[in-house]
Amino acid sequence: MSASDIVPVVAIDGPSGSGKGTISRAVARRVGWHLLDSGALYRLVALAGQRRGLDPDDRAGHAQVAQKMAVAFGSAADGSEQVLLEGEDVTLGIRSEAAGNGASRVAAWAEVRGALMHRQQAFAQPPGLVADGRDMGTVVFPRAPLKIFLTASAQERALRRHKQLKDKGSDVSLPALSREIAERDARDQTRQVAPLRPAPDACVIDSTDLSVEAVVGRVLELGAARGLWR
Ligand code: C5P
Repeated sequence: MSASDIVPVVAIDGPSGSGKGTISRAVARRVGWHLLDSGALYRLVALAGQRRGLDPDDRAGHAQVAQKMAVAFGSAADGSEQVLLEGEDVTLGIRSEAAGNGASRVAAWAEVRGALMHRQQAFAQPPGLVADGRDMGTVVFPRAPLKIFLTASAQERALRRHKQLKDKGSDVSLPALSREIAERDARDQTRQVAPLRPAPDACVIDSTDLSVEAVVGRVLELGAARGLWR
């Protein structure tokens, strides 16, 4: 039995821009649980592979990177999220659309997904874990007592991502972004390994017309109903 079978996990999956990151962070903070941003790990593999000059099609090389790369998730002096790769601050670098697309490419390979499996499961530490991704409820934490599949209309997701990137100082056109998101979603949904889909026992929440507070409230209610917290 592994730690992820004993420690309670809330799995939050869904397509790009559905708000998983924001909701997962808020829920983890409210209940005092750990947080896994699994997408960041795929982004880090793509970035680390690029930095090591790997051929973009080198599956074994990227799998090795996934196993060996030194990553650390923490907070900067001002309390904001900080991601380190081999000791270097890559917090902003991994959030670009290019890094997201690179992540989606390497994420289609079974070798890379396998190499990241234990790294992800090791995040399950007491008192509990909120895990954000595409296959948290279907593959990585199939026994999670609460699985959420968060969706929103394609238009709303593109708008949210656009705002997020603009707030980070990145200048990207909305139509181009909508296209990229649609391509990334199609690749995530149709890949052979761990395609993006709701687990059969997932609670689907459409956040198109819901505020962040409303979605967080719904997840907190669902967790309380399962006795995960009060
Ligand atoms: O969530 P985020 O946009 O950071 O994820 C980047 C990419 O990483 C996704 O488009 C997806 O291809 C991949 N990913 C995945 N499985 C996860 C998390 C992310 O395949 N659990």
